[in-house]
Amino acid sequence: MNAKDDDGLSPPAPATVAVTVEVVAAEATKQRAAALAEQLGLPLWTSDGGDDPELLLIVTADRLALKARRGEAAVVGGRPVSVDLAGIDTRSAAGASRKQPLFRAVGLHRRHAPSDVTVADLTAGFGEDAWMLARFGCRVIALERHPVVAAMLEDAVDRAAAAEPQVASRLEVLQRDSALWLAAPPQPVPAVAYIDPMYPGPARRRAAQGKAMKLLRRLVGEDPDAANLLQAALEVPIRRIVVKRPRRAPPLVTEPEPVAVIRGQRVRFDVYIST
Ligand SMILES: C[S@@+](CC[C@H](N)C(=O)[O-])C[C@H]1O[C@@H](n2cnc3c(N)ncnc32)[C@H](O)[C@@H]1O
Repeated sequence: MNAKDDDGLSPPAPATVAVTVEVVAAEATKQRAAALAEQLGLPLWTSDGGDDPELLLIVTADRLALKARRGEAAVVGGRPVSVDLAGIDTRSAAGASRKQPLFRAVGLHRRHAPSDVTVADLTAGFGEDAWMLARFGCRVIALERHPVVAAMLEDAVDRAAAAEPQVASRLEVLQRDSALWLAAPPQPVPAVAYIDPMYPGPARRRAAQGKAMKLLRRLVGEDPDAANLLQAALEVPIRRIVVKRPRRAPPLVTEPEPVAVIRGQRVRFDVYIST
């Protein structure tokens, strides 16, 4: 990480990533790692190899996990991070409440059968919001452009399917740039598009971020094209577009103004109606 990044003035160089296997791995796991490395166009790493990647995508017998070997996202002795969708709180009274800001923003609070609502999550990341919406009953198309993030999300959905097959069956992961997807969306077009770009701002304001989010940030950077993504969504006949923002951040675009703003404790959802 360079000094400029510490000041938040310019983005750091993209993280180097390699695929590896857990310390003691069966032959099938090694083969899966080799296939994944080829699919993602990444080197296959061994500890005695010459490469020095910053991030490792670790293939274990039952999951993919990501580990930082150095930098802000590394925690010495820390465990690699994998995505655990089944662990997200969607069952407690608060987690399942229709009144949750996310559900209200998507327009679900008055509906009894959200299975007729398809949400295009245009910035799926590690899929927490997508899983919550699918858990609530929506069909979700989860689009993620970063190949490593998309691979981790697919892996997470596959694992969560063992515990909650119905939820997983409502969630489709596509490794795609949403701006391109919006140029030729499926018919009928989804009723809702959801945009949750990486939070902007210098490093010191991000101190409270969890380890998974730090790793995600090192992988994908800042999403500087998020405003263009919203403008592209506004040109598609998707009825409702929801943008998640830090509570005090300015709206993603100056025009048009959101038709509604739903405030949560730490975030806010700006709701737009497509023109
Ligand atoms: C803040 S994360 C999303 C977190 C997610 N809502 C969750 O609940 O886990 C933003 C993600 O959007 C992805 N992204 C940004 N612009 C995109 C685009 N045009 N197409 C697809 N993915 C995009 C980034 O790669 C990043 O993984």
